[in-house]
Amino acid sequence: MRLNGQRRWAAAGVAVATAVATFGVALSAPAGAAPGCRVDYKANSWGGGQFGASVKITNLGDAVSGGWTLKFSFSGSQRVAQGWSANWSQSGADVTATSMSWNGSLGTGASIDIGFNGSGAGTNDANPSTFTLNGTTCTGDVVPTTTTTTTTTTTTSNGPGPGPGKVDNPYVGAKQYVNPDWAAKASAEPGGSRIANQPTGVWLDRIAAIAGTVDSRGLVGHLDEAVRQAAGTPLVIQLVIYNLPGRDCSALASNGELKPTEIDKYKTEYIDPIAEILARPAYKDLRIVTTVEIDSLPNLITNVTPRPTAVAACDVMKANGNYVTGVGYALAKLGAVPNVYNYLDIGHHGWIGWDDNFGATAELLFQAANASGSTKANVQGFIANTANYGALKEPYFKIEDSVNGTSVRQSKWVDWNRYVDELSYAQAFRQRAVQAGFDANVGMLIDTSRNGWGGSARPTGPGPTTNVDAYVNGGKLDRRIHLGNWCNQSGAGLGERPKAAPESGIDAYVWMKPPGESDGASKEIPNNEGKGADKMCDPTYTGNIRNGNNMSGALPDAPLSGKWFSAQFQELMRNAYPAL
Ligand code: BGC
Repeated sequence: MRLNGQRRWAAAGVAVATAVATFGVALSAPAGAAPGCRVDYKANSWGGGQFGASVKITNLGDAVSGGWTLKFSFSGSQRVAQGWSANWSQSGADVTATSMSWNGSLGTGASIDIGFNGSGAGTNDANPSTFTLNGTTCTGDVVPTTTTTTTTTTTTSNGPGPGPGKVDNPYVGAKQYVNPDWAAKASAEPGGSRIANQPTGVWLDRIAAIAGTVDSRGLVGHLDEAVRQAAGTPLVIQLVIYNLPGRDCSALASNGELKPTEIDKYKTEYIDPIAEILARPAYKDLRIVTTVEIDSLPNLITNVTPRPTAVAACDVMKANGNYVTGVGYALAKLGAVPNVYNYLDIGHHGWIGWDDNFGATAELLFQAANASGSTKANVQGFIANTANYGALKEPYFKIEDSVNGTSVRQSKWVDWNRYVDELSYAQAFRQRAVQAGFDANVGMLIDTSRNGWGGSARPTGPGPTTNVDAYVNGGKLDRRIHLGNWCNQSGAGLGERPKAAPESGIDAYVWMKPPGESDGASKEIPNNEGKGADKMCDPTYTGNIRNGNNMSGALPDAPLSGKWFSAQFQELMRNAYPAL
């Protein structure tokens, strides 16, 4: 959710055939009141009564430090459906937005961008005309004026420059790219057509994937198809940048083609060609989301000496610095393309949620964001739970709960973690990242492709309060044997369908891992992609220290990672939650 200076306002005029109403608000203040704020409100209608609104608040009065409250009223029956960067509530036509813990300070002259998706609007009647900030009417001027409300309605078009510029949350008001190669496999499965039209990530998991392989079209093919699907409206296409030297040092199933030292090859034969293609004028109107290097930096925190969970290959990658160098390079090169939105990987709550991993990860990500010529401005936000199975929300137990005086943090399942689900983890990480130095408007993505945990085994209420383990195990949605299990998990189901701005601080729920694609082979399968046999994908494996020496929980007979795994796809559909 990075804000990109004025380009954001140009971005409200992306190449859509919607009308944008711009209200320059300058209303008279109550006598004697010092006018202290300005609100720029822009609504984009996208038909069917649906609209998205960006609200820029500028404080023209004294600095506000203890939080702020913005109020306005709709003129009709519009409703706020989902908002971001503020706590939104509505009573009748009256809307209130209050600051979040991380944006409650607003210096004199400072601005903050918030917004919401709404419903119930005609083309242009979603526009309130009066706003108050902490009780002061926002006149837009430091000198009280008489009432002059100006309204201009413009038909939007692209401004000058290489592209439409970056918006605060690329998912808002945009369609999403459906990968036809994945959709074909999904719809070939019985019942698969129910989800074949969902947007999924396009994984550029080796150099050959740029030009295309037998399984999938190349990057140009995807982008051309994305332009066709966009048909002149905003469209998000999601790419996974995934080919670091010494990739995924703790999981043999996802090792890649580049050796730990091949950083130059990564730059010149992988990132540079991708950046060149993304920068082509033909693609300037796409919103290109790039999730950058899944599983790399978190490994440098948890799987290195002197941790008991250390893996020699991760020590090598920490010592040679090539993950940090490579991530910085990718961010800088891709971020230089005006319509590319970089999201950095933050693992998931069952990995980075412990106190000694959490802050350290945020700090390391900040270091990488400033490596190889990059700056934090190249980071739009972060993605949690990519290709993992962590429940989005655990409704039947919270981290604050205790049973007979024992905290759930002491249960075997939680094991002193600070978070019990991905939503609370992602929202908290966002704040910690801002503390580490990232921009206050960064936004989060959560991969909900396989974390639904529906089906007959899904609990319908809290577990018994006999003891803390019974309580947690009886109530948790996540049916994994251990939080550290990650390969082709038995019992998993499709999670929330992709959705823009579903919760505060969350840019979108996404399906970055295409459901039905394996996490790794159950047995060794020779291949030329660098993929090894990982015992965590073998259902008979009894585990290691990283999964508490538990069974792997993996489905049998799985193919190589990334290959189609029909049995898993069927199970994911059966256990979908929300159900299909
Ligand atoms: C694999 C990739 C694959 C991706 C998406 C990863 O685990 O290593 O090759 O493209 O999953 O299925």
